[in-house]
Amino acid sequence: MTYNYKGMNIIIRDTYEDVSKKAAQLIAAQVTLNTKSVLGLATGSTPEGTYKNLIEMYKNDIVDFQDVVTFNLDEYLDLGAENEQSYAYYMNKHLFDHVNINRENIHIPNGCTEDREKTCEEYDNMIFNYGKIDLQLLGIGTNGHIGFNEPDVHFEAGTHVVELDDETISANARFFDDISDVPTKAISMGIRNIMQSKKVLLLATGAKKIDAVHKMLFEEITPNLPASILQVHNDVTIIVDKVIGDMIINKLDKK
Ligand code: GLP
Repeated sequence: MTYNYKGMNIIIRDTYEDVSKKAAQLIAAQVTLNTKSVLGLATGSTPEGTYKNLIEMYKNDIVDFQDVVTFNLDEYLDLGAENEQSYAYYMNKHLFDHVNINRENIHIPNGCTEDREKTCEEYDNMIFNYGKIDLQLLGIGTNGHIGFNEPDVHFEAGTHVVELDDETISANARFFDDISDVPTKAISMGIRNIMQSKKVLLLATGAKKIDAVHKMLFEEITPNLPASILQVHNDVTIIVDKVIGDMIINKLDKK
């Protein structure tokens, strides 16, 4: 089922697998229509299935990453690419090692930089030099964060160093041996970068995200719920599973 609400396309699929498949199809379509697409990529458990489908499509000659350029949303501070918890490691494991992307076209913020301010500025400049991100893939945190833009975000910020919310640290602790190992800071693209991208594709699945998606779609735009700013982006597609979809249908039926 597909809905249009406040100009946002909302696609409801039954399961996580169906959501992942649909997201991969939309990304593959983008890359096929423009082989030099600039993709903004996300980490977290949500896009894993999407990347799996894209790898499958690549192996079946349905999609070609040769000329694709990527910019990842974020990276933990002080975790190098060899660290299994870093987002650079995640991207290699879940996508880059399995497709024909040109390594020179991959961009991930350098969390181990000596000069953080310069690294952030250079990241913004690199994106700017490519023009705009054609399609930005997003997950959403339980507190409504996108990238690592936590509540009380400055909507106008570009790439910057962020302090992670306690809720984010505990949500991400499942990837680490101990919660005390979770970095407390990261470098993240800002809301400005996300809002400047031509298309946004946000995925959300599972009951834990119902509240964040509800606030994102149906409550006021506020820095306390960073994803709510997407209400005013002019090309947003949101794909959700049935558990979140039921909440959306219920809400729309009452309007
Ligand atoms: C992480 C990432 C986000 C991601 C979010 C949700 O902290 N920085 O980009 O969207 O949290 O993660 P998950 O998909 O694992 O629920």
